[in-house]
Amino acid sequence: MKKELYQFSYKVYESFSELNDDDKMLLSAARDAAALAYAPYSDFHVGAAAKLANGEIIRGGNQENASFPAGLCAEGVVMAVASARFPRVPIETLAISYVSTRTESDHPIAPCGICRQSLEEFRLKTGSPVRLLMGGQNGKIFEVDDAAELLPLAFRF
Ligand code: THU
Repeated sequence: MKKELYQFSYKVYESFSELNDDDKMLLSAARDAAALAYAPYSDFHVGAAAKLANGEIIRGGNQENASFPAGLCAEGVVMAVASARFPRVPIETLAISYVSTRTESDHPIAPCGICRQSLEEFRLKTGSPVRLLMGGQNGKIFEVDDAAELLPLAFRF
């Protein structure tokens, strides 16, 4: 028996002003995309914006349903639209943000476990890592070079 150690590192930006111009644009698009959400049940409006390798920007918001498990995360919506419009084109960076009417929208949110699994499949499908930029409407911003790092021992068969 031997033990394995898994570690990952991520960048923390103290504020929006520290980002480069491309990242400012993409995070702004994700912040704005919260307005595309349909979230009458949670009032948690998630916005996501993907910059594709072909230069296209795909935006989307979470889409809820009275049958709660039928709801879609913003990241899932964006991945599905990206795949439908531009099959197998890599996502270079996916920015995620949110607006909540119940809490301050001032801390980074990370993709849920299901979205991490979908992001892993996206990476396998396109052969390119998906970089993540995570921020609220203000406050700190987190950056992860490869979303796969957020899902060690991902399921696959
Ligand atoms: N949600 C997302 O859109 N992305 C995530 O990564 C986590 C959660 C949505 C699902 C639901 O509509 C709302 O946020 C509250 O959970």
